[in-house]
Amino acid sequence: MSVHSDIKRVTTNILRNMKDNGDKIACLTAYDYSMAALVDAAGIELILVGDSASNVMAGHETTLPITLDQMIYHAQGVIRAVKRALVVVDLPFGSYQGNSTQALKSAIKIMKESGAHAVKMEGGKEIEESITRVLSAGIPVMGHLGLTPQSIYKFGTYTVRAKEEEEADLLKSNAKLLSDLGCFGVVLEKIPRGLAEEVTASIEIPTIGIGAGSGCDGQILVIHDMLGINKDFSPRFLRRYADLHKEMTNAFTGYIKDVKSGDFPNEKESYG
Ligand code: KIV
Repeated sequence: MSVHSDIKRVTTNILRNMKDNGDKIACLTAYDYSMAALVDAAGIELILVGDSASNVMAGHETTLPITLDQMIYHAQGVIRAVKRALVVVDLPFGSYQGNSTQALKSAIKIMKESGAHAVKMEGGKEIEESITRVLSAGIPVMGHLGLTPQSIYKFGTYTVRAKEEEEADLLKSNAKLLSDLGCFGVVLEKIPRGLAEEVTASIEIPTIGIGAGSGCDGQILVIHDMLGINKDFSPRFLRRYADLHKEMTNAFTGYIKDVKSGDFPNEKESYG
């Protein structure tokens, strides 16, 4: 893909082969250069510049306020860092729904200005025209079904979706539609594991789960959550791989103490 590096980049075809071979796909979000460099070097296959940046980077309650330009700013930093992973960028709320011309324009702006490799959109049948239009420009599209946070005011709650038959049937037909349209993958968020397993077995494209059980082709977590930076967010599906809230708080309080006592900087940390 790139003429500047001999590192083999992860492509959408590689992800499809991974599904076919039963190899699990590991994905994380990232929103800035330093974090993306660490995640990429660790060997992650897919980095999502998620609109969860609205929550964890900007402190908004929902993902709705983040703008297209803000998403591009985050994506630019990530792209500068990444040598191997496939980088997918969320089309933010209001940049694609209900208007396929706007969807195409938004996706092209992301691809041109950030250098990202793909975009993600939330929804199924209701955004079919937008997905088709973006795909027709040669831009890979990832879908997102189940708990779609851009629709939080429609749902009214962040609880598990598609527990009832009607919503589960709709989700299954939307997953098939995304696969048939040519999306390269689909995020399944917060749905029962049996349903996620059924969808995964019934469509050709990889499913990436978050709160959807182990039957998906891959998993994704928000990086701040898995690092334990935010100690107040602890849904059932989250596994914390570090307690950075504690580590970072200890570092900050230690630094404050040393500055105030005059211990920092010492002679070795100063110039003669
Ligand atoms: O924005 C995001 O971080 C996401 C993941 C939760 C899949 O969409």
